[in-house]
Amino acid sequence: MKIIVTGSKGQLGRSIQEISSQYPDFAFVFTDIEELDICDSVQVDKFFVVEKPFAVVNCAAYTAVDKAEKEQILAKKINSEAVVNLVNECKKTGAKLIHISTDYLFDGNKSTPYHEKDIVRPQSIYGITKLEGETAILRAEIKSIIIRTSWLYSAFGNNFVKTMIRLGQERDQLGIVSDQVGTPTYAGDLAKVILDILQMGAKDSKRFVPGIYHFSNEGVASWYDFTKAIFEIHQVINCKVNPIDTASYPTPASRPAYSVLNKSKIKTTFAIEIPYWRDSLKLCLNKLKEDANK
Ligand SMILES: NC(=O)c1ccc[n+]([C@@H]2O[C@H](COP(=O)([O-])OP(=O)(O)OC[C@H]3O[C@@H](n4cnc5c(N)ncnc54)[C@H](OP(=O)(O)O)[C@@H]3O)[C@@H](O)[C@H]2O)c1
Repeated sequence: MKIIVTGSKGQLGRSIQEISSQYPDFAFVFTDIEELDICDSVQVDKFFVVEKPFAVVNCAAYTAVDKAEKEQILAKKINSEAVVNLVNECKKTGAKLIHISTDYLFDGNKSTPYHEKDIVRPQSIYGITKLEGETAILRAEIKSIIIRTSWLYSAFGNNFVKTMIRLGQERDQLGIVSDQVGTPTYAGDLAKVILDILQMGAKDSKRFVPGIYHFSNEGVASWYDFTKAIFEIHQVINCKVNPIDTASYPTPASRPAYSVLNKSKIKTTFAIEIPYWRDSLKLCLNKLKEDANK
């Protein structure tokens, strides 16, 4: 059974690659823009004809949240229009689709965890284009699962954890936003859930239950809490972390003040347990240390 993974040089794509050998029932076809540009409908069509996939995991995305405010056309092309190309092929061939979306669809005005049915009101171009991608999938009535996640990090590529470690070693103090609250998500945990769902669906198609699901690690943190935990676990000792508010750190894109996701649906539907965010952070930081010592 073939699984096409798009955007596989990104954080989530590389995390899927890393554990793919634990899923021997699947033949993975890992692609990034060089092999499969999801914006090119002709190429996408040809790829599906040749590979005849059982499923597609769409990890390709435009993820530069602030830059998207200036690059609206490109963000829309990758996060929305290109998703239509994948949807069309899934419709033609019956392939299943797992697509990744974001907590930045929400306006952040709630103070209890967001459910899948809560009203979406994105505050940024990135959020708007990701919502358009979701809408294209839901309209098509294909066998699809949309997983909304938040604050993704890994040992791969650029992300908040790696940036904080670098800055913590360069500076003696840092001001980090303490009034935006959400949950960090280790891409390795999300990768496992995606492949477990596909494996369940491969054994019994009824277990691939289409719909929108929320997934992050367990627990709640501000960016300040997240940074303090990174420094504590990684033993960055010479940099003081100061809490600041969002108003003191203006960014081109607005972000929700609160975007904790309620994960009950994914946990009950697929009988999964989700690790606490600090436990997964430790795994990631250990991996970074191991990689540095290689
Ligand atoms: N990162 C987060 O904090 C976060 C939070 C919530 C949700 N998400 C969602 O989670 C998913 C995975 O995120 P991630 O952090 O793994 O993203 P990422 O590291 O930015 O990876 C995305 C990958 O897609 C590639 N790509 C871009 N345009 C493409 C195209 N036209 N065709 C094929 N590949 C293309 C990128 O290549 P280039 O690098 O060359 O552009 C990159 O390798 C995304 O859907 C994202 O929206 C992320």
